Amino acid sequence: MSASDRSNLRAVNLPADWSPTSWRERTALQLPTYPDQAELESALAELRHLPPLVTSWEILSLKQQLAEAQEGKRFLLQGGDCAESFDQCSSDVISNRLKVLLQMSLVLVHGMRKPVVRVGRFAGQYAKPRSADTETIDGVTLPSYRGDMVNGPAFTEVARKPDPRRMIKAHARSSMTMNFVRALIDGGFADLHHPEYWNLSWVGHSPLADEYRRMVNAIGDAVRFMETLSGAEVHNLNRVDFYTSHEALLLPYEESLTRQVPRHWGHFNLSTHYPWIGMRTAAVDGAHAEYFRGIRNPIALKVGPSVTPDQLLRTIDLLNPEDEPGRLTFIHRMGASTVADKLPPLLDAMRRDGRRVLWVCDPMHGNTESTSNGYKTRRFRNIRAEIEQSFELHAAAGTRLGGVHLELTGEDVTECLGGARELTESDLERAYRSTVDPRLNYEQALEVAMLIVRKQAQIAAPA
Ligand code: PEP
Ligand code: CO
Repeated sequence: MSASDRSNLRAVNLPADWSPTSWRERTALQLPTYPDQAELESALAELRHLPPLVTSWEILSLKQQLAEAQEGKRFLLQGGDCAESFDQCSSDVISNRLKVLLQMSLVLVHGMRKPVVRVGRFAGQYAKPRSADTETIDGVTLPSYRGDMVNGPAFTEVARKPDPRRMIKAHARSSMTMNFVRALIDGGFADLHHPEYWNLSWVGHSPLADEYRRMVNAIGDAVRFMETLSGAEVHNLNRVDFYTSHEALLLPYEESLTRQVPRHWGHFNLSTHYPWIGMRTAAVDGAHAEYFRGIRNPIALKVGPSVTPDQLLRTIDLLNPEDEPGRLTFIHRMGASTVADKLPPLLDAMRRDGRRVLWVCDPMHGNTESTSNGYKTRRFRNIRAEIEQSFELHAAAGTRLGGVHLELTGEDVTECLGGARELTESDLERAYRSTVDPRLNYEQALEVAMLIVRKQAQIAAPA
């Protein structure tokens, strides 16, 4: 019996003094101030009655897959929008994002020769941390936009007022997204016999698309060969597992979807499979860490350049005291120019102390900059450099990079600079649509998958 099977059967360690509401005793950063408490309470009461978005069974099977990623037997691909928006909850946006993630995972599986854990940053990615509580334009000061789950992006008093009913709408939009993704996957959308289902209509000629098509043809030949040989259709190629994740920032919402279930001990956050703690709310004595310590989901934590080895060790003591495999992921997001300085001391301390987590690189959030024409952007070469350096730094430290965390979209956007099409600052005007952070478009995302494969092969077999 595996360790995770055993831990399902008994409450090995119900966290002491924890309840879904115990975070309320701690300092909670980045939460909105709702003007009307009665409205807030009534929205939360309604949420507590609504069905969950995921099940404990799915959560535990993801935890098992992450445990395998931690051991190097799988690779994690986690990606999606910086922030979902209510307006963008549409058939095209959802299916295009799924197409990109499926194409990327195909490239990774084919190149790395290991299964990929597929996790979307969607179906709940509606709350955002901000660097300031307010925003001032032309002498007018209003609350900052904190994601569609909290308020609206328009710079008006009405839009910016935190509205608790938005949590109900976020739950509904998340469940519509989940429902469509599940229906697509169950209906055979991810079938390897038909990778043409994942082609994006807007993609014209692209050198990367040619390379990708060659790979797809090779896989198609291999599938047909196996089928001819065995005289039967290979069936397990038409299904994949797809999991969801979001930053569990808005704790009142997360609390209302934290439930006990009949056949498993403990509490689960049933709003998503794999919640993470953002960099700004990662304090070990803060409300977010307190909430996360008690749920049984696999959880992740963003690790920025100011985190010390000691803080990281204390975080593990709190969030994974039993060293449960697959329980804890550290997503480092240092920036291409600082990762070589900041990451090795953390990796060394963890290895010295015999601590195990799944290490993942987010090459997006440490590489954000502003252009002279006022766009928030990221340069592809920095994203690439942070991923490549991360592989090398882990190899040198005797640890393992087990996945990537990316902001991307299947829409035809121009938000990040560079890549195969060499997007320049003047291209940003053409299709900059993100309300928060700049995302990789299809070509840039596929290029990331290809560079991961090349880098990993190089690390595995140094010249
Ligand atoms: C994000 O993932 O969108 C984000 C805000 O990241 P971080 O917490 O790492 O800054
Ligand atoms: Co972001």
